[in-house]
Amino acid sequence: MNVDVNPGFGSSPMAAVPPDIQQIGIIGAGQMGSGIAHVCALAGLSVTVVDVKPDALSKALATISRNMDRQVNRSVISSDARDAALMQIHTATEFSALGTADLVIEAATEKEDVKRSIYKALTPSLKPECLIASNTSSISITRLGASTDRAEKFIGMHFMNPVPVMKLVEVIRGIATDEPTFQAVQTLAHKLGKITAVSEDFPAFIVNRILVPMINEAVYALYEGVGSVTAIDTSMKLGANHPMGPLELGDFIGLDTCLSIMQVLYEGLSDSKYRPCPLLVKYVEAGWLGRKSGRGFYDYTHSPPRPTR
Ligand code: CAA
Repeated sequence: MNVDVNPGFGSSPMAAVPPDIQQIGIIGAGQMGSGIAHVCALAGLSVTVVDVKPDALSKALATISRNMDRQVNRSVISSDARDAALMQIHTATEFSALGTADLVIEAATEKEDVKRSIYKALTPSLKPECLIASNTSSISITRLGASTDRAEKFIGMHFMNPVPVMKLVEVIRGIATDEPTFQAVQTLAHKLGKITAVSEDFPAFIVNRILVPMINEAVYALYEGVGSVTAIDTSMKLGANHPMGPLELGDFIGLDTCLSIMQVLYEGLSDSKYRPCPLLVKYVEAGWLGRKSGRGFYDYTHSPPRPTR
């Protein structure tokens, strides 16, 4: 299913056949890269995950295997499907491993300069018709695409965390993105069992334009002493039926990622309502990034995690 409320800039009648995507390269072996590799491999696609850190690659393979086991145990997939999918995943530390890829999905850290330097190093290794999708959660697709040698084959494909569970993929065209690229990525997302929503290329797109200011507001509520961590999260879980409280969700997404998204909104929309909460800034400066660093608004060295305020 596709929820395309606005066909967007640059859309034109289909002039060319969208490329068939069979081989996928994924850049970045973090939580998003692992999740994307997981769903692509289960859909029968050949996947190569590239990360400069060999440790990150072995950790990603362990995570994928653990999450697929969880799906086997809950009868979401068969053990044969898991075994076949794991065989589809390859890893590499060099972009030269992506020479036959039909699509590369970049899921690197949410920093524009890092993404730009990745594209610069990556594109000479790709075949000319290879598409590039960024899983950026907030940065302009038009600007990122313009920094590559193939703006018309560049698109935003924003998965949600945890990727194997969350149904949505936001699809974002840059001003130069062509129709075959858009159609190919839509078809791929549907093959992965996802529902797409098309967002125009505005800062943080749709989900994070709404979700991350809510998390930031929860941090303000904590900062101003409106409530404790437990009171704020319990309020939103039981009072608004959210599966996680906003502070728990911030820890889950990564407080550094939340801060980057607030900065993109603040700078991109020039509106003070998006100013990042000073307490969020302080946590990130302290290296308290949430679950991935073991501490955020909760301390994850305890089971169950303990609120830190
Ligand atoms: N891989 C595979 N399966 C997973 C999984 C993973 N990583 N994590 C959870 N699951 C599965 C479980 O196996 C379970 O499956 P069944 O329903 O078939 O039994 C199901 O998901 C629920 O998991 P749990 O019972 O372990 O835990 P839960 O009920 O507390 O749910 C949750 C966990 C799905 C994460 C839920 O808390 C939730 O939906 N939280 C909100 C997540 C959210 O808002 N994500 C979006 C973040 S924003 C984003 O990603 C965009 C961005 O750019 C920042």
